[in-house]
Amino acid sequence: MTELELIIDLHKNSERQGPGSENDTLKALGFLNLPTDQNLKVADIGCGSGGQTITLVKNLNGQITAVDLFPEFLNELNEKSQKLGLTDKIVTLEKSMDDLPFKKDEFDLIWSEGAIYNIGFENGLKKWRDYLKVDGYLAVSEITWITQSRPEEIEKFWKEEYPEIDIASNKIKQLENNGYTLVGYFYLSQDSWIENYYKPMEARFETFINRNNNSGLAKKVVDDNKAEIDMYQKFKKYYSYGFYIARKNE
Ligand SMILES: C[S@@+](CC[C@H](N)C(=O)[O-])C[C@H]1O[C@@H](n2cnc3c(N)ncnc32)[C@H](O)[C@@H]1O
Repeated sequence: MTELELIIDLHKNSERQGPGSENDTLKALGFLNLPTDQNLKVADIGCGSGGQTITLVKNLNGQITAVDLFPEFLNELNEKSQKLGLTDKIVTLEKSMDDLPFKKDEFDLIWSEGAIYNIGFENGLKKWRDYLKVDGYLAVSEITWITQSRPEEIEKFWKEEYPEIDIASNKIKQLENNGYTLVGYFYLSQDSWIENYYKPMEARFETFINRNNNSGLAKKVVDDNKAEIDMYQKFKKYYSYGFYIARKNE
């Protein structure tokens, strides 16, 4: 297996592929003011195995197109939606988020938890705006500094991993500069990282290495994730995922 295949393998059979929680999804949903008497059209981009997709579909009156690049995750979401009898409400789509087949003004809501970074926050805001109706909403979570300054070690780590990391006020400015009005912002709690994402991942490390025959590459994937977890534990006061909820202007 390649390193990418191993990364997918590590993240399979998990509730979420990134920090977040049902409460965070519900909290972000609470900022929306959408008609309840209409069948809404929703896209969930970078949905992974669909932890948040299921929460969305249960709490909105509408149909969700759940997009991801990797069929392994979409298969899991399809299985979940079959078990829950939600197949008429969730359609999965294997596509890259920078090459979507959507029409102009197609959606009432575009959702994306922990995934827009794959094409860059500002690029994603610009690209996806076209697919939203006027007064439709964009709800995205994005890695964000939660203090104005921070130690050099963590600054350097994130600048290498994702140079677009920034404080919320600059992210909000980007939303405003690109035709959106912010309607809500909060950042994820440490539990959303540790209890919902890192601890379940750590619990999978051993079986992951075993099923991949103790390969050096599998061990490297685990070591990389351990290093990321150590960084988080050391510097969790300085960054989180910010959840940005914004409405499209005319
Ligand atoms: C950090 S995970 C978040 C998954 C899920 N939203 C969650 O919060 O559990 C990022 C997701 O983006 C997907 N992804 C990565 N690059 C992508 C691309 N170019 N187009 C669509 N999805 C992509 C990954 O497969 C993964 O499921």
